[in-house]
Amino acid sequence: MQKLRTQVAIVGAGPAGLVLAHLLHLDGIESIVIENQSRHYIENRVRAGLLEQGSADVLIETGVGERLQRECLMHHGLFLKFNREMHRIDFEALVDRTVMIYAQQEVIKDLVAARLDYGAPLFFEVSQVSVHELDATRPRVRFTHAGEAQEIECDYIAGCDGHYGVCRPAMPNLEVFERHYPFGWLGILAEAPPARDELVYTHHERGFALLTMRTRQVSRLYLQCAPDEDIKHWSDERIWDELRIRVEGGEQWRLPEGPIFQKGITAMTSSVVEPMQYGRLFIAGDAAHIVPPTGAKGMNLAIADVRVLARALRRHYKSGNGDLLRDYSKVCLRRVWKVQRFSWWMTALLHRFPDDNEFDQRRQLAELDYVTSSQAAARTLAENYVGLPMEWE
Ligand code: PHB
Repeated sequence: MQKLRTQVAIVGAGPAGLVLAHLLHLDGIESIVIENQSRHYIENRVRAGLLEQGSADVLIETGVGERLQRECLMHHGLFLKFNREMHRIDFEALVDRTVMIYAQQEVIKDLVAARLDYGAPLFFEVSQVSVHELDATRPRVRFTHAGEAQEIECDYIAGCDGHYGVCRPAMPNLEVFERHYPFGWLGILAEAPPARDELVYTHHERGFALLTMRTRQVSRLYLQCAPDEDIKHWSDERIWDELRIRVEGGEQWRLPEGPIFQKGITAMTSSVVEPMQYGRLFIAGDAAHIVPPTGAKGMNLAIADVRVLARALRRHYKSGNGDLLRDYSKVCLRRVWKVQRFSWWMTALLHRFPDDNEFDQRRQLAELDYVTSSQAAARTLAENYVGLPMEWE
């Protein structure tokens, strides 16, 4: 077995793992990143594409935001559509912050390029990953790469390997909190210009729909569907028909159409594990929590976790003070639960639930009316949507 040595072994090259590796590098802390997918796979995996201002700022301030600044679409508000009327939530007026549209796989490309550029270790297509001696002073990560067994001896392990990764199941001390929603999202990418220059979240009696975008030429569109929906039953024509029914009407504009080049169904789950640490293993991002896509908080929460972790590791390595490491889980979970609450609330506000009766539907419309007519309620939405401040900001 080939032996490697580093300060922090990072399992997973998604947004959590790569941002963490980058922040540690800037602080002179060594890490090795391992990923079981190929570089091509992670650089093309379709995920949400919305960055809170705080997430974008981190990338920009740490030198990996050049293309982001050039290519992102800056959004100063969003639209809520219900009863066939559009209502705008103005982030700038309400909270003086913005969000950015920039696809997750573009963030990944920028981070991978930066890491390879400064020559730091990043292994793709590893297999048989396992973590060992988590409560000893020298934990280990074992894996196979290019047919060869490898072992990393390290000070700490960061489990950034997602909901189905190996790190979380290796923790004996977890409590899981979960909710599954009785619906999913059918998402498409289409070569069609966005209908509006900001996102449109639509409440409709046939179910939720969301108009978002990737660029000025590419739209990303979502429809609420059954949780076990089979994509084979959705021809392009059926998708456009259903989108038009849910989002058009009440105004003059039409939904621009174009060739669909990607289709998929996303299940909707809220999940949190507590605590986010066991011994010298710290978990971050989807390994620790899943949010439903309403509000696009997944990548932003992953970045927030690793900002907390990077700061704690920096403090530990620079001054020998382990207080922030000890508090990692507690600090992260305060934010995680607030973001869970918001994602659940946005989901509950906009979706059709199968067991809703007329009372629930009236109540939901009253809530939408309240959010779009009360400054206080609109500000609450805006404050959460653009991203809550980090604890130390
Ligand atoms: C996306 O652009 O994919 C997106 C944006 C906002 C959401 C969810 C997804 O709430």
